[in-house]
Amino acid sequence: MAERQEINKADFKNGFPIRDLRDGNMVLGQVDGEEIVLARRGDEFFAVGSHCTHYGGPLAEGLMVDDTVRCPWHHACFSLRTGEALRAPALDAIPCWRVETQGDRIFVREKLMPAAPKSVANGPRSIVIVGGGAAGLAAADMLRREGYDGPVTMVSADDSPPVDRPNLSKDYLAGKAQEDWIPLRPSDYYRDRRIDLLLHSRVSSLDTKKRQIVLENGRAIEFGALLLATGADPVHLPIQGATDSQLHYLRTLRDSNAIIAKAPSAKRVVVVGASFVGLEVAASLRARGVLVDVVAPESQPLEGVMGAEIGLFIRKLHEAHGVTFHLGETVSRVNGRTVTLSSGTALDADVLILGVGVRPSLTLAEQAGLTMDRGIKVNQFLETSVAGIFAAGDAVRWPDPHTGERIRVEHWVVAERQGQVAARNILGRGEKFDAVPFFWSQHYDVAINYVGHAEKWEAIEIDGSLDAGDCAVTYKKAGRTLAVATISRDLQSLQAEAAMEAEIRSHRQEVA
Ligand SMILES: Cc1cc2nc3c(=O)[nH]c(=O)nc-3n(C[C@H](O)[C@H](O)[C@H](O)COP(=O)(O)OP(=O)(O)OC[C@H]3O[C@@H](n4cnc5c(N)ncnc54)[C@H](O)[C@@H]3O)c2cc1C
Ligand code: FES
Repeated sequence: MAERQEINKADFKNGFPIRDLRDGNMVLGQVDGEEIVLARRGDEFFAVGSHCTHYGGPLAEGLMVDDTVRCPWHHACFSLRTGEALRAPALDAIPCWRVETQGDRIFVREKLMPAAPKSVANGPRSIVIVGGGAAGLAAADMLRREGYDGPVTMVSADDSPPVDRPNLSKDYLAGKAQEDWIPLRPSDYYRDRRIDLLLHSRVSSLDTKKRQIVLENGRAIEFGALLLATGADPVHLPIQGATDSQLHYLRTLRDSNAIIAKAPSAKRVVVVGASFVGLEVAASLRARGVLVDVVAPESQPLEGVMGAEIGLFIRKLHEAHGVTFHLGETVSRVNGRTVTLSSGTALDADVLILGVGVRPSLTLAEQAGLTMDRGIKVNQFLETSVAGIFAAGDAVRWPDPHTGERIRVEHWVVAERQGQVAARNILGRGEKFDAVPFFWSQHYDVAINYVGHAEKWEAIEIDGSLDAGDCAVTYKKAGRTLAVATISRDLQSLQAEAAMEAEIRSHRQEVA
């Protein structure tokens, strides 16, 4: 692990002084107008593209760990040797250039060809993925990247091909991202990669002995190996007096479009629940000029997940943007436009949006008789209790080496990374899932990054200033760091992740 070196824009075609690039450091420059990161590991030098293929994050501001570079925005990880996107959320490689040392200078030469396609000797006869979300798409993508050539079928209950779900409550809902940015892959991707994508298709049963799934329309599909990536569904709250057209939930593109359709005529919206999604919705609707009241039972938003300090910061941030909080309150009833709270307070609202959490989507796995543990129980290779049936994403509880506990989380990056590891394991790679959990959340121009996992902690340490929106908050138990949340400290977040990874590695070595 190393620090970031001062950024400049050297022309690497003319060479760069070796002495100016210290071991473990990176420097930004260019060749023929293309921005390049030059990195040094011992006596080896690497030249790669400077923009992350997820949302274009600046890799020169990220972190080099061994022969990888990590993106500062959402922690994608790329090989410096091949450019390969080793870990989500980036799915595509960055370009690489040949480098050459001459005397005391390092020169960047021509761009290298992408790595040759891989091939699989003994893959399953066919692979079925249930779920067209983060884990499902990342798995299908990885199967083809790893060279699996057999039939891949992805069955999704959604109407749309896999989408960038986190965007549905952020820029897309705020009207700052166009609809064509939302699909994770263009439609010809599925045809070109021979991924048979069945949309609007719900799997109603799974027969683990016959090795087949049956869709609601009666169609049976056999599989050699199966991935369950069924995700989670929003918790629905019965609200007395509310009509279906007044109540909105947010999970799918269709849900987000339904809220967007109401936004121009809605003057006031009540968001029920101060969850990440609920608060992101509040921020996006404020960007559209809608007045927002947030009603939630807790005393500070996000207090249970991030502590009272960040909770207060988030609350003040939203209040500064015109959101009104009604904390320690629930909705008692709705009558027309009047929303009455538990205290008797009456609010005026055109629409209610419920962001009160999700429940893992488990029916299929339960009915098939898979072992459950408040989620689909998987081993460290993400395989369920039935050999050849794997599971990934929001629906699974896995043995997390960082906490030493079985955990289930609802994080985009974790779901994608699990999909990738499950895909490799379906092909017999025998890879343990040991990535440190990571999520981010965006509120106006403030991004919160969180690495690790802390369901309960004994102490919180704040380095920096929450008021200034520049800090790292460390969650500790028995003196050990469980998780770190950062605001405007992307490098520190990457360093915390790398330190947790190193801790897992050294623990493994001790045990061995
Ligand atoms: C609005 C929103 C914003 C979010 N923002 C963030 C964020 O900023 N950061 C973050 O880390 N996380 C965020 N999340 C959480 C993140 O999106 C989830 O953790 C992630 O999508 C989980 O991936 P998954 O593949 O497990 O499930 P999903 O992406 O939900 O996909 C599940 C898929 O399974 C399908 N399915 C379910 N049952 C069946 C069945 N029986 N038959 C066929 N198909 C079925 C569904 O139709 C769907 O296609 C957000 C979530 C939402 C809703
Ligand atoms: S922009 Fe690089 S991980 Fe998101």
